[in-house]
Amino acid sequence: MGLDFVPSASLPEKVRGTRIDENRIAPLIHFENVGLRYGMGPEVLRDLTFDIPRRSFQFLTGPSGAGKSTLLRLLFLSLQPTRGLIRTFDRNIATIPREELPMLRRRIGIVFQDFRLLEHLTTYENVALPLRVRGKDELSYRADVIDLLKWVGLGERINVLPPVLSGGEKQRAAIARALIDRPELLLADEPTGNVDPPMARRLLSLFLELNRLGTAVVIATHDLSLMDQVDARRMILSQGRLDIYE
Ligand SMILES: Nc1ncnc2c1ncn2[C@@H]1O[C@H](COP(=O)(O)OP(=O)(O)OP(=O)(O)O)[C@@H](O)[C@H]1O
Ligand SMILES: [Mg+2]
Repeated sequence: MGLDFVPSASLPEKVRGTRIDENRIAPLIHFENVGLRYGMGPEVLRDLTFDIPRRSFQFLTGPSGAGKSTLLRLLFLSLQPTRGLIRTFDRNIATIPREELPMLRRRIGIVFQDFRLLEHLTTYENVALPLRVRGKDELSYRADVIDLLKWVGLGERINVLPPVLSGGEKQRAAIARALIDRPELLLADEPTGNVDPPMARRLLSLFLELNRLGTAVVIATHDLSLMDQVDARRMILSQGRLDIYE
C-alpha cells in the first residue's frame, strides 16, 4: 500500500498528543433509544442504542438516504434527537446549556461530505481556522498546522486556494482541519467519495494511523471495497434502524 504521506517518524505533536484520559471508562458516546425526525416528517432514525467506545474504529454504512449523515450530525451535536438519550463525553446532552455545546464540539473533529473549505482562504488558513476563530495566537499554532499538512501530504500545497486543489487534496485539507484541534473522536462523511481507489487506500491508512494513536474514528461510507480492507466494526443503517457487527 502506498503510504507515501504517512511517514510515522514525523507524526506531528498535534496528533500524537491526543487528549485521552486513560482512567475514564465510560464510552465517548452512548445512545439509548434515540429517534430523529426532521420537522413533521417521518422518523429517519429509530430506536438507536449503541456506544462509541474510546479508541474504537468503525464504519457506518447503509444505502443512500438511510441516515448516515443524519447520525453524524447527532454525533457532532449539531442536531438534537427528537427522543431518547445521548450521552457525549459522559454528559447528557439534553441538559447541557447551549453555550457549553461549542466546548464539547471542539473535542470532535468532522469531515463533511462536501468538504466545506472556504474558497477565499489558503489550505493553511482553512486548516488554522478553528484555532483562529477561538482567538489563538498564530505563533502558537503555525508550526503545528504546517506539520499536520505535511502529515496528510499537503506540504507543497500550503499556500494555494481550494479551487486549485484536486478532489483528494481537498479531502485531505478537510481532514487536517478536522484534526488540528486534537479531537478525541473523528467523524468522516464519505471521505473517499471523491477520490480514486489508491487515494482511498491512503486516506484509510491515515485514519487507521490516527486511530492507532488513540482517536476514535467513525467513517460513513458505502464503499464496500474500502470496508473490505479492514476488519473493523460495522454499523449498518437500514430503514431507520441500526445493526452492529463487531
Ligand atoms: N435537513 C433535512 N430536512 C429534512 N429531511 C432531511 C434533511 N436531511 C436529510 N433528510 C432526510 O433524511 C433521510 C436521511 O438522510 P441522510 O442525508 O442522513 O442520508 P445518508 O445515509 O447520509 O445518504 P447519502 O448516502 O446519500 O449521503 C433522507 O430521507 C433525507 O431526505
Ligand atoms: Mg450522507
